[in-house]
This record gives sequence, C-alpha cells and structure tokens, in this order.
Amino acid sequence: MTTDNDTWTQPVSVPRPIDDPFDILLVGWSFVRGNLLMSALELGVFEELGKAPGTAEQITQRLGLHPRGARDFLDALAALGVLERDGDVYRNGPAADRHLIPGRHGFVGGFLAMTTQFMGTGWGSLASMLRTGDPHGQDAGTVPFEQVFRDPERLRQFLSAMDSLNGAIGPELARRFDWSRHSSFVDIGGARGNLAGTLLLAHPHLAGGVFDRPVMGPFLEELAEDRGVLDRMTFHGGDFFVDRIPGADVVIFGNVLHDCPVEIRRDLIAQAAEAIPPGGAVVVYDPMIDDERRVVDNLLLSLIMMVQSPAGNEYTPADCRGWMEEAGLQVEEVLKLPAHATAVVGRKPA
Ligand SMILES: C[S@@+](CC[C@H](N)C(=O)[O-])C[C@H]1O[C@@H](n2cnc3c(N)ncnc32)[C@H](O)[C@@H]1O
Repeated sequence: MTTDNDTWTQPVSVPRPIDDPFDILLVGWSFVRGNLLMSALELGVFEELGKAPGTAEQITQRLGLHPRGARDFLDALAALGVLERDGDVYRNGPAADRHLIPGRHGFVGGFLAMTTQFMGTGWGSLASMLRTGDPHGQDAGTVPFEQVFRDPERLRQFLSAMDSLNGAIGPELARRFDWSRHSSFVDIGGARGNLAGTLLLAHPHLAGGVFDRPVMGPFLEELAEDRGVLDRMTFHGGDFFVDRIPGADVVIFGNVLHDCPVEIRRDLIAQAAEAIPPGGAVVVYDPMIDDERRVVDNLLLSLIMMVQSPAGNEYTPADCRGWMEEAGLQVEEVLKLPAHATAVVGRKPA
C-alpha cells in the first residue's frame, strides 16, 4: 500500500502550544473571523472588487460604507487572505475571485450563508451534543438534504458548493488514480455529476454513472450536455438507504459516508465490493481525520457533522481500511486530496 501526500500540500493548521492569555481569548472568539467574511459577503465587497480593484476611500464610496471601520475591515480581510492589498489598492485574492462572487460558477457564498444559518443553532448547541450525543438537543434531524431539495434556490446554492469542493478534488482523482485499467465507474451520491464529468473529460475511454436522489436528474443532464459527455454519463435515481447501488469497475463514495451511521458505511462498502468485478476498485473520500488525530480542521469538521447529523462524523483512513478489509478489499492507496479530503482506494483481488 502507498500513502501519498507529497503532490498535494493540504492546508493544515499546525498544532502549537498556546501560552498567551490573549491567544486563549482569540480561540474563544474564532466566530469573529466568520462574521468578518459573512459581513463582507453581505456588503457585496467581493462582487464590487470583481468589477474593479480600489483604494479604501473608493471602496467605501462604492459600497456606501461609513469611513470609521472601512480601512480596518478591508485590511482584516486582506490579513485573512481573502483580499490582496498592493500599496493602497485592494483586490480579490484568487480564491475570493473564484468562489465569493455571486452568480459565478463555483460561488460558495450562498452555501456558506445557508450552512452558517442552520449550523448556528447546531454549533451553538455543541456542549449539549457533547452531553447527549444528539444534534440540536431534542430536534435531531439529518443533514437537511430534503429541506434543501424542496427549495430550488437552496438546491442551486448546494450544487454550486458541491461543484466547488469536488471541482478541486476531481482533477486530482482523474490524474492520480490509474483509470487506464478500468472502463466504467459510478459515483454514489455524486450530486449533479460534476466530478463524474471531470473524470469523463479527462479519460475519453470511460463511461460513468451517478447515483443520487432523483431530484438531481435534470441538473445532471444539463451539466452533462454542457460538458459534451451526455452520451457517456448515466443517471441512476434512488435512495442508498433503501436501494442497492449500481455496479461498475470503480465505485466512488465522495463526501457521503461521513453522514451515514457506521453500519450503513460498512453495508455500502460491502455492496460496492460485490458490485465491482475482480480487479475493480472502491474509492472513498471524505475530510477524514488523520490517523494521528492531530489536524484541527478535520477534527472540527467531524464535530460539525455531529451537530448536524445524528450519526455523522469524520473517521480515519484506518477505520475505512477496516471496513474495506471486512468487505474483502485490499487497501492499495491512501491519497491526500484538496478540500481537506483523503481518499482510500480498495481493490478486489483479481
Ligand atoms: C455532501 S454531498 C456530496 C456530493 C459529491 N459526492 C461531492 O463529493 O461533492 C452528498 C450527496 O449524497 C446525496 N445523498 C444523500 N443521501 C442520499 C441517499 N439516501 N441516496 C442517494 N443519494 C443521497 C446527496 O443528494 C448529495 O448529492
């Protein structure tokens, strides 16, 4: 087995001992960074800078801000890394340009607002979840996919955010996994097929399927047509809590298993192991916790899953290996991917 973490340097919050009382206060006040970003979105900072860079005075005028806080606000955004300041001119940083301008493909601001809103109650009740194990106290629900799907605007925001996350992962998976050995794949919970489309464009010999809730069908068709891969992409509408998953040479679960109870994760991997031919592969990616359990962002993502979803949490590559081995797969690779993700690749012996 190989563990590859050289080609992608994952942004990692390096653990360091805190020895200053102000550092403790800053950890407790971490929400201020979130509010800074959300305020910038609300005020239209990124959209305005997308039209033209500007000085603090110009931006203050263009956005109708009061001069009192504007300069510190813009400098704080630059210090955070979302804006860039060159002399006294501010412009969007590359990530803000790609992901924080409304209407642009890859915009995550809508999803951020939506998740911040529903996480507000959940994350605020972290202590309660830690006592009871239940998200939202007595109002435990699942990650509110069904709620999101009922509202076309939220669904579009959700899809745009999924595209951004798996849009970073797709090209790496296309490049680093050996697709020449396979002729088909199916992406379980593949949303509107953004990752599938990337794999199909990179590997013209492949045929790809996406299994997701039926509501995704028309969105997938639109995306597949746009990318010119409609003839090689198949949509399977269903519910993986009820229906058996379809087969292919490679079965992918991306950002899916972390929302499922452990027995469902094991069952889905076992189904996938049955659904692939000898020599076929199962690829699981999620924002897994590192085996040493030291990377703060993924640990926080795990707790965020727990306050949103009754059985959700992040798990380690070692956990995933255990489920794969139980299903008769041999773990061949562990790949570090963008978007804080790790992929575990299991192969069915030939
Ligand atoms: C967090 S998204 C991940 C999307 C994509 N795989 C990615 O990596 O960005 C989870 C996906 O699983 C789908 N999903 C959730 N529950 C499902 C179910 N019971 N059956 C089929 N798909 C489901 C959702 O519709 C959504 O598209």
